[in-house]
Amino acid sequence: MIQVDNATSQSLALSERSFTKFAQFITSELGIKMPAGKMSMLQSRLLRRLKHLGIASLEEYQEYLFTSPCAEQERVHFIDAVTTNKTDFFRESEHFTYLMRHALPELDPDIRNGRGEPRRWPFKLWCAGCSTGEEPYTQAMVLSEFGEVRRGFEFKILATDVSTRVLEHAELGIYDEDRVAVVPDSYRKKYLLKSKSTDHGQVRITPELRSKVYFNRLNFMDEDYKVRDMFDVVFHRNVLIYFDKPTQEAVINKLCKNLKPGGYLFVGHSESLSGLKVPLVSVSTAVFRKVK
Ligand SMILES: C[S@@+](CC[C@H](N)C(=O)[O-])C[C@H]1O[C@@H](n2cnc3c(N)ncnc32)[C@H](O)[C@@H]1O
Repeated sequence: MIQVDNATSQSLALSERSFTKFAQFITSELGIKMPAGKMSMLQSRLLRRLKHLGIASLEEYQEYLFTSPCAEQERVHFIDAVTTNKTDFFRESEHFTYLMRHALPELDPDIRNGRGEPRRWPFKLWCAGCSTGEEPYTQAMVLSEFGEVRRGFEFKILATDVSTRVLEHAELGIYDEDRVAVVPDSYRKKYLLKSKSTDHGQVRITPELRSKVYFNRLNFMDEDYKVRDMFDVVFHRNVLIYFDKPTQEAVINKLCKNLKPGGYLFVGHSESLSGLKVPLVSVSTAVFRKVK
């Protein structure tokens, strides 16, 4: 057991004043709400960072984060520490069924009008808030499957997040075996490789599937997302819950600028757009379409 003397435990405690300063910074930088109930979570996440840096108190860390010459560099690590990155392969799996059975056929011009007019592929999907990559790789598997039955279908996926740590993990595409247990057997055979370069018990996404996904850092609080593509589908799941209503409305409207008319937006099952002024209509549980 680690013995912590009184003075040490006091310097490691997050005072209300310090919490307020960190919380204001998190909300203005990332849009993430930080009510007082998050104080102990924030404290424990920051203490890991203190330990790593060899800094003795949270007050000292605050100076390091806001005023030291390393401040800008440290903010990248701070963002990694304070974002919640929980995700899974095939999370809220009804959405992938909906994508396959409804959205893709509906957006396919040849299937829809049967006239064989020029295709508008590649199909473009934006995974906005992609965390460690499980979500965009699930999407890539589902779109590849669609391509097996729909000749000529091509796709690409833009996957963005604000945390550089999760993006590095996502780009590598290496996961523990237990993380991929939910991936259907037939998909595992096609899209996952036993990793030779890493310890036993890990798999890697195949290079072909990885080549379909482009990762980029993007903060939803930015005024201009500087994304030039127009997308058929945007997934923005389990991110809105961290934002207040005005921020949700601003973010959804900015995402909609890059969603084609008639394109689909998926949000998390526990998220709602009710009361937001956005150019979308509800078509299924947590699925919306941009008005044409
Ligand atoms: C809980 S995860 C959800 C991941 C995935 N969409 C899913 O549903 O499984 C939320 C992600 O949103 C990212 N995030 C939070 N605030 C953000 C912001 N302001 N800009 C961009 N990404 C943000 C976090 O870094 C995190 O990876």
